[in-house]
Amino acid sequence: MNRIEELPRRPGSGRLPLPPGPTGNFLLGVMPEFNRDTLGFIERAKNYGDVVRMRFLYLTVHFLYHPNDIENVLSTNAKNFIKSRSLRSPFFQRLVGKGLLTSEGELWKRQRRLAQPAFHRQRISGYGDVMVEYTQRMIAKWDSGEIRDIHRDMMRLTLEIVVKTLFNADVSKDADKVGDVLSRLVRPFASQATLKWIADNRLPTPTHRSFNHDVKEIDAIVYRIIEERRTSSIDQGDLLSMLLAAHDEDGSQMTDRQLRDEVMTLFLAGHETTALTLSWAWYLMARNPAVEQKFHQELDQVLGGRAPTAADLPRLKYTEMIAKESMRLYPPAYGVGREALDDCEIGGFRIPRGSQLFMFQWVTQRDPRFFPDPAEFRPDRWSEGFVNELPKYAYFPFGGGPRVCIGNQFAMMEVILLMATIGQRFRFSPAHEHEVELLPAMSLRPKEGIEVLIEARWGSVI
Ligand code: HEM
Repeated sequence: MNRIEELPRRPGSGRLPLPPGPTGNFLLGVMPEFNRDTLGFIERAKNYGDVVRMRFLYLTVHFLYHPNDIENVLSTNAKNFIKSRSLRSPFFQRLVGKGLLTSEGELWKRQRRLAQPAFHRQRISGYGDVMVEYTQRMIAKWDSGEIRDIHRDMMRLTLEIVVKTLFNADVSKDADKVGDVLSRLVRPFASQATLKWIADNRLPTPTHRSFNHDVKEIDAIVYRIIEERRTSSIDQGDLLSMLLAAHDEDGSQMTDRQLRDEVMTLFLAGHETTALTLSWAWYLMARNPAVEQKFHQELDQVLGGRAPTAADLPRLKYTEMIAKESMRLYPPAYGVGREALDDCEIGGFRIPRGSQLFMFQWVTQRDPRFFPDPAEFRPDRWSEGFVNELPKYAYFPFGGGPRVCIGNQFAMMEVILLMATIGQRFRFSPAHEHEVELLPAMSLRPKEGIEVLIEARWGSVI
């Protein structure tokens, strides 16, 4: 059954019920509870059902937990929805402007059409060598026996890779600075619904001032990359060249500002998510030696000590299953949001236009209805038979429908190649007994990084 339909137009004609949900504080709604314990709150709200209604201050918000409803919003009836308000906040606009992630309508369509070729499978496989080369360069500096914050390493590496592959620029000198600033920049989104955040959005508070200062710092680097490329006018065949060369029907080209928005979007969307997938995979493997052992066996069998290439991907099946299982348990994008443009029906309930709708990978991907023993890290569950039986939107780490992640194949390739390159040389064990604390910011981060003890696999560092 299609769970979303247009509502009957005639007033009073068999109106559907509103979904159940928590009422919260009479002034603030559920905001305080949400801020206190975001992940716990979105898990507990599911006790009301698959469609849950609540209020955040003055906003009506719905949480959707069922794969059929998620599919309908993201894919089947995608036209009835735009991105949620949180993405349209002045903070976020200042950061990524009208880039692919945030734009709508004709502008989005055009930018997506222009950017798509850079992400085609064939083009992407050409990026594989850069990915492996940059990784080798990084691990050449590692020493067996040292404790490292593997998350910091992955953040730096994926930033350098996305900048090199898509813009043919090198930020290795600036990588730490750009990484730090980007990381600080998305911090205000950690507690999206606080009054402080709302005030910061509107008033020149110190948070706002330092945010603006940070954005200016990255802007300078991004505009430098654009300027260098405009003056060299050599077609490098990369994403930036395509965007630079693109013409509108009237012959006009993208302004520096538009280019800057796309570059910034890809800086942001393209590196932290991928780094997080890798960080959580290493974290989970360090705590599950049986999985790690099977991973090493596959690497030894398929690669026999040589560097991996994109051509090896089809045979690195178990490595891919580890990546998928890591993204199931620790989805870097742990929720996606939309706003309803029109009244509609979802799961038998009435959803008024203007409602904010949120779908959480964090909850649905741990739902025991779809994943037996959901808390267990079990890469083997990703057999073909299991995948065929799984409702399509029970697992949606990259979203879905027309706004599906443009970089999903790029990311999967990067994750697998980096895992294979690093896993051949090093193994990790936890540096601490305690579990890593989560920070649900824009993406699902480890609060204090992930420290691991690294050991060379063959007793020597190559
Ligand atoms: C494991 C890594 C990644 C994850 C989990 C991820 C997740 C997502 C999700 C869930 C969305 C959809 C958001 C929504 O529907 O509101 C998205 C969109 C997007 N992602 Fe990714 N992403 C990853 C890697 C990448 C990479 C490597 C790039 C680029 C190099 C990228 C660029 C984008 C862009 C530009 C969009 C917006 C697409 C559009 O609206 O047309 N992502 N990503």
